[in-house]
Amino acid sequence: MTTSTGADRVTIFDTTMRDGEQSPGASMHLDEKLRIAEALEALGVDVIEAGFPIASNGDFEAVFEVSKLLRETTICALARAGSKDVDRAAEALRPAARKRIHTFIATSPLHMEHKLQMTADEVHQAVIDSVNRARNHCDDVEWSCEDGTRSDADFLCRVIESAIKAGARTINIPDTVGYTIPSEFSALIEMIRNRVPNIDKAVLSVHCHNDLGLAVANSLAGVAAGARQIECTINGLGERAGNAALEEVVMALKTRPDVMPYETGIRTENIMKASRLVSGITGFVVQNNKAIVGANAFAHEAGIHQDGMLKHAGTYEIMSPESVGLTQSSLVLGKHSGRHAFKKKLKELGFELGDNALQDAFRRFKDLADKKKEVFEEDIIALVDDEVVRSNDRIRFVSLQVVCGSKGPQTADLELEIDGSVRTCHATGDGPVDATFNAIKELFPHHARLQLYQVHAVTAGTDAQAEVTVRLEEAGRTVNGQGADTDTLVASARSYVNALNKLLVKRERAPPAAISA
Ligand code: KIV
Ligand code: ZN
Repeated sequence: MTTSTGADRVTIFDTTMRDGEQSPGASMHLDEKLRIAEALEALGVDVIEAGFPIASNGDFEAVFEVSKLLRETTICALARAGSKDVDRAAEALRPAARKRIHTFIATSPLHMEHKLQMTADEVHQAVIDSVNRARNHCDDVEWSCEDGTRSDADFLCRVIESAIKAGARTINIPDTVGYTIPSEFSALIEMIRNRVPNIDKAVLSVHCHNDLGLAVANSLAGVAAGARQIECTINGLGERAGNAALEEVVMALKTRPDVMPYETGIRTENIMKASRLVSGITGFVVQNNKAIVGANAFAHEAGIHQDGMLKHAGTYEIMSPESVGLTQSSLVLGKHSGRHAFKKKLKELGFELGDNALQDAFRRFKDLADKKKEVFEEDIIALVDDEVVRSNDRIRFVSLQVVCGSKGPQTADLELEIDGSVRTCHATGDGPVDATFNAIKELFPHHARLQLYQVHAVTAGTDAQAEVTVRLEEAGRTVNGQGADTDTLVASARSYVNALNKLLVKRERAPPAAISA
């Protein structure tokens, strides 16, 4: 595709909700997926891979609901090469205005022999059958050769040609295990372009994992060699070391058009918002020195750098913080701000709350403004995220009183509302967090194991809100809970309760199938 500027258009295919969700511990709730889907559409991604419908009822439901919600973006569902998988993907995509079925099978000798236990000819036939079946459901079909970078070149060319003949419009070359390097990967893409006779009938796509830290470099090398779709995730989330980070590939293309004359449809000023949303939902904190979205990505420490920056920003800045949506923390509202101003601010930040949620959020904002001298946009986002997260909960936090300090014992008096009735208890523990979590366990007995407890300050200053993430694991199911408050222990209790509520929802769903992609 060519755009008005004459630069080649690269399709951005986001797989945060599919490959990203395969990061251990990064499971997302349906409501959370819908919020991520909206953020991705606002960001301008072309294709959203919303899930793997055969893998679980939760994945099916996510693809179905995202398909109902979005009208602009193409919604994609993943399917292995098998009629049941493909039909289930098609069913989940039924409400979508624009849909794509993405079917895949492994093509490397290692995977075919040991994982699939199929001969090359059987795999070849499965490619033809699965693409044919997918084409009977929709026009837009993508086919992937899993472990493509470790596949035999002759076999790869043969199956790609057959997949295109069967109707695949996009051919995706995954570096499934993050094994390749840029020069080798660009040679592979070039080889495919030169040797597959009908390759002009399909868009070539790249899907790179980051096991050697080369996912972004490999993706860009693939584009330079002729690929026109990049599969990537927000914050580089994904199986093992993750996938190519969307924000990095997009900003590299935008910053260096002199050597990479390609365009994307990404509205880059929405990058930070999407990054924070995904980090908040998954509990995967972005490292400070992470390119583009890390807290230090635009911070200048050395005196000589600061001096240069004051004279000319270009001395040490290759892109502006505003171009990725980073603005100075702005003081937004004070304790005298009214409901109207609060609602208007929420709208500017992209939140539309129903009357009850707005009422609760406004009450919590007033409490916060009483406690905190300055309320920033980040505070409002944390507060509303916290409110939205809780809308259908069976267990609700009511109050907490903690005794802590060097002269033990540390104790917690906790009040929770469980299925509509308020219960209280007094518990002790090895420190105030332990006492608080013991109190929750006493009021709502369970066997989930605490896998992660993480505290992060929303803004600077000792009066900042604490944003706490709690990860719980029960019978192979992992959930992340979030909570925010100026009191770290209240935020901790809210976060634990949020994780428990998610676990209750997960218990009602079918267990995840043992399926890999
Ligand atoms: O990494 C991989 O091979 C995949 C495929 C399903 C595209 O995620
Ligand atoms: Zn992958």
